[in-house]
Amino acid sequence: MDEGFDNTPQGVGRGAHREKEKVGHVPVLLKEAIHYLAVKRGGSYLDATVGLGGHSLEIARRLGAAGHLIGLDKDPAALEAAQRNLEAGAGDEFKNDWPKIKLLHSSFAEVKERLAGQKLDGLLADIGVSSLQLDQAARGFSFQAEGPLDMRMNPHQERTAEQVVNQVDEVTLANLIYEFGEERRSRRIARAICRSRPIRTTAELADVISAAARPMNQAERRIHPATKTFQALRIFVNHELEDLTALLEAAPKILKPGGRVVVISFHSLEDRIVKDAFRDGAKRGEFEVLTKKPVTASQDEMDRNPRSRSAKLRAAERI
Ligand SMILES: C[S@@+](CC[C@H](N)C(=O)[O-])C[C@H]1O[C@@H](n2cnc3c(N)ncnc32)[C@H](O)[C@@H]1O
Repeated sequence: MDEGFDNTPQGVGRGAHREKEKVGHVPVLLKEAIHYLAVKRGGSYLDATVGLGGHSLEIARRLGAAGHLIGLDKDPAALEAAQRNLEAGAGDEFKNDWPKIKLLHSSFAEVKERLAGQKLDGLLADIGVSSLQLDQAARGFSFQAEGPLDMRMNPHQERTAEQVVNQVDEVTLANLIYEFGEERRSRRIARAICRSRPIRTTAELADVISAAARPMNQAERRIHPATKTFQALRIFVNHELEDLTALLEAAPKILKPGGRVVVISFHSLEDRIVKDAFRDGAKRGEFEVLTKKPVTASQDEMDRNPRSRSAKLRAAERI
């Protein structure tokens, strides 16, 4: 059942227009996520990707003092930022009506174990990288700024993008660029990378790719030649697709009947995983799918926040 979301450009709640200045970044599909989560006062919610706390802040404002919010992130820097932003977000208006908030350093792939025995009213996952990660050259996520080839969301994890770029054999590298970047020029790029080793920085890698992969058509000319390879490395380094699959497998076990799961994804590989998990869950009688088609950003949001252009939101309700 599609709930026919009303995409009008009004604020999601008290103080919504101050969001950007308060949390320093713009949460994507915020109003839509809150609508599909249908946050209940006094309920228990999980923000599986708390990031800078943008979505969490809006959930917290609806929960009231009897409510509980758990925020997870595999990036400790995100948790620190979320803590600051959520404290600031409570402000005078909400300080006597603020839920209990617990922030945990964890991958959402581990929710089944970390939240064993809990029954939640809803869970939100806004997957991908945060502006905090993208904007810091030292994290190595962006080819637009020179930084070490790192790309780890969790800096305690061992494998970095530099290890993958310099140690993985050419065929494996080509396959992962093809699979996780949907990059047709993967073999050529992998060959050029292997010939240019060692490659130490994001800028060096972007130059090697640009020289090897000339755009083949108009669509390819519109994006930087390194975009898909960087996406592939990031997904591989952070095992993003496996984590998402594990989260969606756990979702029916940690939600109450009537509990909602809302996922915002940013590329087709992730969206397919969400769509298939909801469809299979519906067949098993675990979920009712609330979004027949993925919900996308309004033109107004896309104009204000270019990152929202590729966002797709899907929601389901635990039966
Ligand atoms: C797009 S941001 C979330 C932004 C957040 N909704 C907000 O409004 O501030 C995605 C966050 O998810 C985190 N993340 C990605 N994969 C994760 C995983 N498997 N487990 C936990 N956190 C993850 C990233 O570190 C990042 O901080």
